[in-house]
Amino acid sequence: MSVGTAVIGSLQFGYNTGVINAPQKIIEGFINDTWSQRYEEPITKSSLTAIWSISVSIFSVGGIIGSFSVGLFVNSLGRKNSMLMANILSFIAAALMGFSKMGSSWEMLIIGRFVVGLYSGLSTGFVPMYVGEVSPTSLRGALGTLHQLGIVLGILIAQVFGMESIMGNDSLWPLLLGFIFVPAVIQCVLLPLCPESPRFLLINKNEENKAKTGEFTHMKKQNDEETQSRQMMREKKVTIIELIQSPLYRQPLIVAIILQLSQQLSGINAIFYYSTRIFEKAGVQQPVYATIGAGVVNTAFTVVSLFVVERAGRRSLHLLGLLGMAGAAILMTIALALLEQLKWMSYLSIVAIFAFVAFFEIGPGPIPWFIVAELFSQGPRPSAIALAGLSNWTANFIVGMGFQYVEEACGPYVFVIFTVLLLFFFVFTYFKVPETKGRTFDEITAGFRQTAATGAEKHSPEELNSLGADSQL
Ligand code: GLC
Repeated sequence: MSVGTAVIGSLQFGYNTGVINAPQKIIEGFINDTWSQRYEEPITKSSLTAIWSISVSIFSVGGIIGSFSVGLFVNSLGRKNSMLMANILSFIAAALMGFSKMGSSWEMLIIGRFVVGLYSGLSTGFVPMYVGEVSPTSLRGALGTLHQLGIVLGILIAQVFGMESIMGNDSLWPLLLGFIFVPAVIQCVLLPLCPESPRFLLINKNEENKAKTGEFTHMKKQNDEETQSRQMMREKKVTIIELIQSPLYRQPLIVAIILQLSQQLSGINAIFYYSTRIFEKAGVQQPVYATIGAGVVNTAFTVVSLFVVERAGRRSLHLLGLLGMAGAAILMTIALALLEQLKWMSYLSIVAIFAFVAFFEIGPGPIPWFIVAELFSQGPRPSAIALAGLSNWTANFIVGMGFQYVEEACGPYVFVIFTVLLLFFFVFTYFKVPETKGRTFDEITAGFRQTAATGAEKHSPEELNSLGADSQL
């Protein structure tokens, strides 16, 4: 229940990622009408494009600021209350966006998108942190993947609700955007019934009994967790500056940041922001349905990852996902390049996009989000999550803003750029990312500590793993 309640935050993030794709034309119509009423002349094409682009991308600007601020809240308010408090932002955003039509103000829409971006940025820090800290070691990957499942379900719900026959029409679009108040109310009711993270109670509040007698009985049973508790009590908070400067954290920090970049620079959001357009260009008859199809594949493969991540491990799934995405990107390039000559290439483009999305959810989708909480112990964790979140959201913003321009310049070869990046991330993961499956937070940190002392370059990931295990003996 705790994890389920927390990931309502992930659902909100996904919903707002997907919600502006389908009703673009209708909302542009509203901007046009408002402009005409106010200035008594129709809006120019360039002003309309500018207002629309800002409405879309200001969400990521909010995300950048929100994700970077997680450290300000999680240690003083606690994990649970931070999530609860963030809902104030959801309510403000729901009101601003939901009443923007009534108020004849596209400014309200833009500010609302920014505020819900702040909320989503905070969520991408709060949720993986809370989930990682309340989960038993053997289920940490599977429960961590639920954050991504929340996101993909949010995207899918938004795609379906955004259909013209549901809420993506002239009269109901304000409700489509304001709908986020419903999950916010549900989370506000459920969160007070959930326990606080036992690791937070122990290290930040020093309330050992509360931490052990809470609902998390698995913590009581596990001896290794007990040992960990003792060590955590000695661990002090590490600021962002200290984290960047200390050689002890350099290796895990580079791994955490590159993994975030591998998620975003894989090009996944080129699909989720612009799929309808891409399908249209590829000659697909019903682009909106193809987009919803991508959402369904996206959700299905997140569920696959959920079930295999504890067996196959993070590292191998991430490698498989990156390689598969690179293959799908090549297929996509072939399909787009040959479209003029062969009409059936439009079907190949659908297959390629579905495969791209499926491989993404096998590894690069869920794993970067939860692995940061695994790579760092209690002291540096909030700062590490803030830096990782900042990298993720910045890359998200760059792809969101830049894709349309790069596509215009490169034509059908735009996916070649992502192929090159994907292969680079594959090589990096192969040489630098250790497996974290089945290891306690402390074992993982000990592995990196040993590496920092002995020189990282000499060690393969397998050796890193054994170092981590040895240090526990
Ligand atoms: C990940 C990414 C997000 C993307 C989503 C697609 O959660 O962080 O940007 O839209 O996956 O499923």
